[in-house]
Amino acid sequence: MTAEDVVRRGRLSGDRDARIAAFLSSMAADRTIAGADVLVDIAHALMLLKQGIIGSDAGRLLLGALLTLYREGVPDEAFDDRFEDIHAGIESMLISAIGEGAGGRLHTARSRNDEVATCIRIALRDAVLVQTASLITLRGVLLDVAQHSMEAIMPGFTHMQHAQPTTLAHHLLAYEAAFTRDTSRMTGAYGRVNRSPLGAAAFAGTTYPIDARSTAVHLGFSSTLGNTMDAVAGRDVVLEVLAHLAVMMTSVSRLCEDLILWSSRFIGFVRLADAYCSTSSIMPQKRNPDTVEIMRAKAGSVIGACSAAMVITKGLPMSYNRDLQEITPHLWRAISDARESTDLLAGVLETAVFDLDRMRLEAGQGSSTATDLADHLVQNAGLPFRTAHSIVGRAVAKGGLDPATLHAATMEITGNPPGAKGMSDSEVAMALDPERSVAMRSCVGGPAPVAVRATINEERACLEGDAAWAAHERGRIDQAIAGLIRDAEEMVKG
Ligand code: ARG
Repeated sequence: MTAEDVVRRGRLSGDRDARIAAFLSSMAADRTIAGADVLVDIAHALMLLKQGIIGSDAGRLLLGALLTLYREGVPDEAFDDRFEDIHAGIESMLISAIGEGAGGRLHTARSRNDEVATCIRIALRDAVLVQTASLITLRGVLLDVAQHSMEAIMPGFTHMQHAQPTTLAHHLLAYEAAFTRDTSRMTGAYGRVNRSPLGAAAFAGTTYPIDARSTAVHLGFSSTLGNTMDAVAGRDVVLEVLAHLAVMMTSVSRLCEDLILWSSRFIGFVRLADAYCSTSSIMPQKRNPDTVEIMRAKAGSVIGACSAAMVITKGLPMSYNRDLQEITPHLWRAISDARESTDLLAGVLETAVFDLDRMRLEAGQGSSTATDLADHLVQNAGLPFRTAHSIVGRAVAKGGLDPATLHAATMEITGNPPGAKGMSDSEVAMALDPERSVAMRSCVGGPAPVAVRATINEERACLEGDAAWAAHERGRIDQAIAGLIRDAEEMVKG
């Protein structure tokens, strides 16, 4: 391939040492934006032609070559890392294919600065939509598993100690709630991402009579950005999405941690499907939860990508600086790590087998219903909660929550025997029953099946709303791009 690097040839001398060229090149990361770059080129060339900024013959030749790239894909030679980036690669190739008379006009009224910012926003909004879809699937699985485990009593923990009984549904819905907020962070960011920088050129706009609104509409953007310097230099939307992904991955990681603990023999609440487990090369009996371990680690990678991008950006003066190029490899990696994680996590949960008997058995362990007993003393003996708390705590310390020990504990704490009735065996047993404990907790958002059912219904409605939004946005963008291609094709036909 002989295409010459057309960006460099005027101002700078000689070929560069391959190591320097490779060091400067963003080619590896630019594979993610190559498709977007072709669309940006088509929208820009079409606009130049319609505005009469380039002539009809050159413009149609150029558009024709770009449409071929669109249909056939960007060839490998454009990704050679002697080019600084895919923008230089594609432009150089076009010029070598159709000549400078037509190919050399593509970059009129444009800079790589607004070009790359536009490509990043196109790829980023797609990523946000794909991540939203993945979260929607994951939430759907969590809601399905919750629907089937509303009665599955299990211990709830604080400080990793048995605390109070809850249900598997309630536990999983805690994660579903977090993923719902992650979804809304994605949709919020989307609106800020989906605006067009194209037309800002290097940073100061251009003197050509461009129509930046038409390129924005053709590329599916909601509008153009309001300041041309911000358009090329701003990466806060990139940082925002990275931060949202990092936050999301902390929840992913915590759910992984629960699954890892639960699948250990100590706890034994869950068996993950073989497909998600690995074994040991030496210990033939092992079933290790490697998939969720890797996922827990991916949270670290995504958080790392977010910090890298923040630190790269934070000291940069206005406007474009080449440092910005160093952000995108972190961005694309974080996006794929996060999406693969949420995709796979849905499968892990869908195929996990929970040991409901084992969970039920543990639910009442560790005096986990002691709070219910204290509440019973408050409600039936009229004691202040703190007194009831002390009595039950003392009884636990003395070794049991039976009527005799409770009697002795009451004497110790209050100096008086419990009221004339005392507490019967059956009354104590009732207060300590894990099923009853859960059923009584019917407050909004609580673990009682009636409350969980209400939560599931609300969450399903919210999920449907999010899914409708994502489908609508996807359709709108696909339609805009289809319109762009149609218009460009018609223009070439003449
Ligand atoms: N590869 C560059 C990036 O990712 C494209 C913009 C280059 N602009 C420039 N003035 N060198 O940021």
